[in-house]
Amino acid sequence: MKITNLIETDQTSLHQTTFLTDVIAGLSAEQKSISAKYFYDDIGSELFQKITQHPDYYPTRTEFSILEKISAILPTTINEAEIDIIELGAGDGHKSELIINGFLDKHCKVNFYPIDISEKAMQLLGENLSINASLHVHGIVADYFHGLNHLKKISNNRKLVLFLGSNIGNFNKAQTDEFLHQLEANLNIGDYVLIGFDLKKDVHILNQAYNDSDSLTRVFNLNLLSRMNRELGAHFDVSAFQHYGFYNPVLGAMESYLISLKDQTVAIDTADMQFHFKQHEVLHLEYSHKFSTTGIEKLATRNGFEIAQLFSDDRDYFIDALWKVTSPMEKMT
Ligand code: AVJ
Repeated sequence: MKITNLIETDQTSLHQTTFLTDVIAGLSAEQKSISAKYFYDDIGSELFQKITQHPDYYPTRTEFSILEKISAILPTTINEAEIDIIELGAGDGHKSELIINGFLDKHCKVNFYPIDISEKAMQLLGENLSINASLHVHGIVADYFHGLNHLKKISNNRKLVLFLGSNIGNFNKAQTDEFLHQLEANLNIGDYVLIGFDLKKDVHILNQAYNDSDSLTRVFNLNLLSRMNRELGAHFDVSAFQHYGFYNPVLGAMESYLISLKDQTVAIDTADMQFHFKQHEVLHLEYSHKFSTTGIEKLATRNGFEIAQLFSDDRDYFIDALWKVTSPMEKMT
């Protein structure tokens, strides 16, 4: 697999600086929080991979069943002789391969461009993909929109952007609009996006998925404390925090918190700072928004897309939404 790295070499240290700066800001706030994007160091990514295979965590399995069903439909709807399939976040390639093969089966030439900030994630994906004459794979190491902008410049093919797994659920409302706006701005009229949305459902099913019976999710959350210990010279006592994940029906989101079990002070050596946690004080880690069909429709039209098709599973647990970038005329109305 060819890999293009759009990130300058000294940006790895820049990443560490951003992590530290964000942690300091998050722990200094009245309501302490750290962004869920920091879950995914190597250990966190491996734990998430295990969560996706756990019987209690339905989203991955459900989305896979939808993609299996639609992989033959997408190339008929999109109907091109050659296509650029761009995946935001490299993942393990299992879902991407389903979609790619659907196009190859219909004799459509595919250029697959996974975009990921982590070169390591990209290499792992490369090992999982099997290449043939009609499939060209080119990894882009970059943040999503630099990567997309680069691709817009180097290729005029019709594009299909994949943003799967309900990763969009981690964003708040403003971030979601900003993300979709950027996405639209970096594509051409007539291009497509396929976005995975986890749907609102019985709260017991939701709570179970984020409180799995093997405590993988708990360990996944606590790993963020260990990650700060490893990378930032922090001194979190992981056993002094309790994981609490629950569905907030007012927000329409799963939320996850770590609750301090005692009064404690945590030093972070690289910042030369200390942070105090009162007993029962909460550290907010994640939102995982759940969507409705009308919500998905509003998100599309508000951000310059029209809905081509919505694909759901038998139980209506999850939707993969195929949206098309609309013409500027339609955008004005
Ligand atoms: C990767 C953001 C889609 O929100 O369901 C899984 C992450 N958090 N279990 C999700 C996650 C707890 C996951 N996403």
